[in-house]
Amino acid sequence: MSRLVVVSNRVGPVKDAARAGGLAVALVEALKSRGGLWYGWSGKVDEHVQDQAKIENVGSLSLATVDLSAEEHEEYYNGFANRCLWPLFHYRIDLTAFDRRYYEGYRRVNAKFARVLHPLLKPDDTIWVHDYHFLAFGNELRHMGAEQSIGFFLHIPFPAREVLAALPHHDAMVRGLFAYDVLGFQTEQDCERFRDYVVREAHGRAEGDRLHCFGRTVTVRAFPIGIDAEGFARMAETDKDARKQYEKATKSLNGRTQIVGVDRLDYTKGIAERFHAYERLLQDYPETRREVSYLQIAATSRGDVQEYREMREELDGLSGHINGAYGEFDWTPLRYLNRPMARRSLSGLYRASKIGFVTPLRDGMNLVAKEYVAAQDPEDPGVLVLSRFAGASYQMPEAIIVNPYDIKGVADALQIARYMSLQERRERFEALMAGLRREDVANWRDEFLSALAAVARPGNPVEG
Ligand code: G6P
Repeated sequence: MSRLVVVSNRVGPVKDAARAGGLAVALVEALKSRGGLWYGWSGKVDEHVQDQAKIENVGSLSLATVDLSAEEHEEYYNGFANRCLWPLFHYRIDLTAFDRRYYEGYRRVNAKFARVLHPLLKPDDTIWVHDYHFLAFGNELRHMGAEQSIGFFLHIPFPAREVLAALPHHDAMVRGLFAYDVLGFQTEQDCERFRDYVVREAHGRAEGDRLHCFGRTVTVRAFPIGIDAEGFARMAETDKDARKQYEKATKSLNGRTQIVGVDRLDYTKGIAERFHAYERLLQDYPETRREVSYLQIAATSRGDVQEYREMREELDGLSGHINGAYGEFDWTPLRYLNRPMARRSLSGLYRASKIGFVTPLRDGMNLVAKEYVAAQDPEDPGVLVLSRFAGASYQMPEAIIVNPYDIKGVADALQIARYMSLQERRERFEALMAGLRREDVANWRDEFLSALAAVARPGNPVEG
């Protein structure tokens, strides 16, 4: 088996990843058993950066990381990745910063990452690149002469053609992607949108799961990312910290129904809309007052970016308003914690919560939805309320699927979840859990890597 080299902006943490987003968590799971080299940003910003990787060994895994200068960090990470690609790919053109300086910084940093990795590569390595931080990375490596198989997986949604066309450099971005051999997306819908762009905007040709364009051929397929379903279920049931959290939560609830939401603090997650829907539940169904308790955990994310800071203020205001308007001296309707929680404790918290509240406005997949289900007690499982705009909704039709913009509809869904019979909860849980086991994270990794192994690779850069 050839060595696997994984490239992602975030590397690790390999142990309990309290602050990690879905990508880092999934990659830890995918790499644990297989080993290999994991390469990306160190997380450090330093004025005296060297174009050299620092290598650290953790079991069968080697971690190679590079630092960024303040300017690189600002232009590549805060700027192009998080103020341009992230909002645009999540359909927030209104929040998208179209700044040429950001684009140029992004290209420079993609080239730097390629330059530093190139001497560490072996001829028969398999290279797997992740997410929107590295759209241009594969082509940079090809220009340096890399002939290895290189696959790319996009963790976030791929936008509709006309949304992408708002990006001044959309053509160059898509052209660069053709340096990869396999392009993986979360859902069939993302694949379709990519195909639509290539065929109609770039005049490429589709043939089964192959796309021909710019003199290159790539395989385009959906590989919905999964979790370690068995492992997570076991953790929720038996881990010491999980049990402690479960008991603490159950005791403090005093027989009330807990609704739980866990997200990175991000405008794509629809947390404000969720707060409104909860308020609507309390308004329209007064009998729920004192009977429910909503716990929202939202760890700060990308705090240097203006739009994220504004959102934090908005949520502080909204949560204060709900508690001020509905709270009683012995009942707090909404507990809003602006900090991360370790995954072990989270699994216990999910198990103690009768409703999982996952209503992003757009999401590539959403692993919280999957972990919430895996953590449930099979004898007395909770109910998942899930946005139709999360990639996970295609695999999880047995959740209560909602439109997160429809505040009243979401409030009604919470009420339906509260009253769902044990038999129905069990049936839905069993169907969901069977899917999570079948399409787990090991399956995601194996499917992607076998698609990559199956392609003949010309290994040329894309010109132009
Ligand atoms: C999403 C992205 C990941 C990213 C994570 C956390 O899941 O798809 O690429 O790592 O958010 O965001 P951050 O900016 O903190 O890495």
